[in-house]
Amino acid sequence: MAKTTISIIKCDVGSIAGHHVVPQELLDACRDVLARGRDEGTIVDFYVTNCGDDIELIMSHRRGEEDSKVHELAWEAFKAAAERAKEMHLYGAGQDILKTAFAGTVKGMGPGVAELEFEERPSEPIVVLMADKSSVGAWNMPLFRIFADPFCTAGLVIDPAMHDGFRFRVMDVIEGTYVELNCPEEMYDLLALIGDPHRYVIERVFRKRDGLPCAVTSTTVLSLIAGKYVGKDDPVALIRIQHGLPALGEVLEAFSFPHLVPGWMRGSHYGPLMPVSQRDAKCTRFDGPPRVVALGFQVRDATLIGPVDLFDDPAFDYARAIANQIANYMRAHGPFEPHRLPPDQLEYTTLPQLLERLKPRFKKLGK
Ligand code: F6R
Ligand code: MG
Ligand code: MG
Repeated sequence: MAKTTISIIKCDVGSIAGHHVVPQELLDACRDVLARGRDEGTIVDFYVTNCGDDIELIMSHRRGEEDSKVHELAWEAFKAAAERAKEMHLYGAGQDILKTAFAGTVKGMGPGVAELEFEERPSEPIVVLMADKSSVGAWNMPLFRIFADPFCTAGLVIDPAMHDGFRFRVMDVIEGTYVELNCPEEMYDLLALIGDPHRYVIERVFRKRDGLPCAVTSTTVLSLIAGKYVGKDDPVALIRIQHGLPALGEVLEAFSFPHLVPGWMRGSHYGPLMPVSQRDAKCTRFDGPPRVVALGFQVRDATLIGPVDLFDDPAFDYARAIANQIANYMRAHGPFEPHRLPPDQLEYTTLPQLLERLKPRFKKLGK
């Protein structure tokens, strides 16, 4: 049986009332392009949605990762949506489309990409994670908890198929290199890196005993492509679950703690990552707080059955209440760190221009 690939490709090409939500017209423009791609046989199935101001294309196919035809299809969908956004005078129309000529891949052109090729199991449940007003690296803590922390994932202790642990591939997004580390034995080395999520980002997770691919994240850093702030790199991730992998509830459990992520207002502030239903995937207060949506699918012969909206549940009310409390507390710092990001992370925003203006006014002490 040919392998199945799930490609999640996302892009912010404009939204209604500022950087708020993608209107239906743009999602429909993408659906039309992907339906054509399905009818022509490039992809087998697709689901188009949004998380706040980001369009999310979830595609299933048989063509493997980094396939130029699949990427081109996604690129055409985003271009069609961007055209529509321009016609509608939407805010940020075409924002993440950083290059014009397509050259075989959308990587490095603006969109975020997470793709996983695998052999379908007899039953193949998956979870798609999507964030808004957040940044690449936001999945480090939850992925560590899902695949390496027995206080989150009981299966690491209880299930013989998981007991050997998992292998993490960590990207250095500055150098463009990666390292693979095994857990539990190299856990402290892993934490030494991924505790700095601005530079070290978990890109993939494999089951150690057989190398089964379990998870993948998007690692594009827009400012590193554009050399300036062009909006945040709201990340996506895909996780295979159950039957010798973390259970659905072990994946979701990692989001019961709304950890602080960089993003929020102007991509320049720390805020709690609030788990929400799709209905609530729209940032409001101070352009936030940052949100995460989780969709569950069953994959069958490369078709997508679902989705189910996984944080649409009172069991996450408490996490949301904590996130609101943390949001309030962080907001009370106003323009001060650690609510505001430290200077090295504001490097690509508009703040350096203002600091530059003040430079001539600094006088040497004692003169
Ligand atoms: C953060 C984000 C928003 C904008 C903010 C200012 O990722 O998209 O918080 O940075 O609304 O936007 P501009 O400069 O476009 O007015
Ligand atoms: Mg935007
Ligand atoms: Mg966004």
